[in-house]
Amino acid sequence: MTKRVGILTSGGDCAGLNATIRAVALRAHHGYGWTTIGIRYGTLGLLERPVEAEPLYPDRLDAALACQGGTFLGSTNRGNPFAFPMGDGSLKNRSGEMLDGLRLLKLDGLIGVGGDGSLDILRRLLAPSQLPFIGVPKTIDNDVANTERAVGYSTAVAVATEALDRLQPTGASHERVMVLEVMGRDAGHIAIAAGIAGGADVVLIPEVPWRLERVVEHIEDLRAAGHTSALVVVAEAAGQADEALDAANDAPAQGVGEWLARRLSHATGAEARATVLGHVQRGAMPTAEDRLLASALGVRAVDLLAEGKADRMVAWWHRQVIDVPLAKVVGRSSTVDRDGTLILTARALGICLGDQA
Ligand code: F6P
Repeated sequence: MTKRVGILTSGGDCAGLNATIRAVALRAHHGYGWTTIGIRYGTLGLLERPVEAEPLYPDRLDAALACQGGTFLGSTNRGNPFAFPMGDGSLKNRSGEMLDGLRLLKLDGLIGVGGDGSLDILRRLLAPSQLPFIGVPKTIDNDVANTERAVGYSTAVAVATEALDRLQPTGASHERVMVLEVMGRDAGHIAIAAGIAGGADVVLIPEVPWRLERVVEHIEDLRAAGHTSALVVVAEAAGQADEALDAANDAPAQGVGEWLARRLSHATGAEARATVLGHVQRGAMPTAEDRLLASALGVRAVDLLAEGKADRMVAWWHRQVIDVPLAKVVGRSSTVDRDGTLILTARALGICLGDQA
């Protein structure tokens, strides 16, 4: 009998999700004659009766889908089955209802595309069932453990780099310090990569404890050397890393980017402007690299189910797709290596990380 493989996208969207869904459905159809069932709105679709899901036939999965941002299945980051937010403000365990929803779909396997939080939740949701589960890592933050790349990261870096390319001329024209705040809930991967690629003068990330006075000194040195403008990249989570800021209980009310621009302007006398890039980094058309990664990971996820594997995540490692136990992914995260190549490169290029004079 034809097998049925379910797929859902969970957590914050990113570029490359549609390419992942497409790869899964095409591999399932052409490789094994299986039907792919797309579940709508992450885990939320499983609560509806009938379950919100639809077969994904190859004729609607043309190549144009691979270059579209977002996820045509929809997603959610408010669907925790074990602490589901109810209308009255309470939290309810709805994992049983979601499992029932999965049973109604009569699936032979499930592929979940998510960050470490979503993969953890899906794994725990499926634990009481016999349904084989394979995870595909996606997040612009690129902080999923045991994979060098997550779907969506390459595009976010490209968007942030382009933003720097655009900020540089306007900053130079007006002799301003231009601060770009980029996403990264707990990690500075986007900031350090875009900062190097986009020629930033300063990059502040949560992994490197930094001090405002170091940044001020660096900008003053630049100005003394005749550089009338400066580019500063700050990861949204970097505010947690300035000890002075914590000590003064001076948490940036509008985000670290706005806070930093104000402080730098005050301390250096330069005009400063902040740009908070936000969800622009998530919604873009995926780069070729993200489309490739999504396709390779999606294909391999189906192959793993065909091989009878379960409770594993496909991963990108040393230029190829491998698979790792989900137990080695959840509850961990991959942050920027303080002694790694990107940090060394940034320092060698003269980029100030806010920690050294
Ligand atoms: O984890 C991905 C991410 O885009 C983070 O970089 C960011 O902090 C967060 O999601 C934003 O989430 P939301 O879309 O709920 O505002």
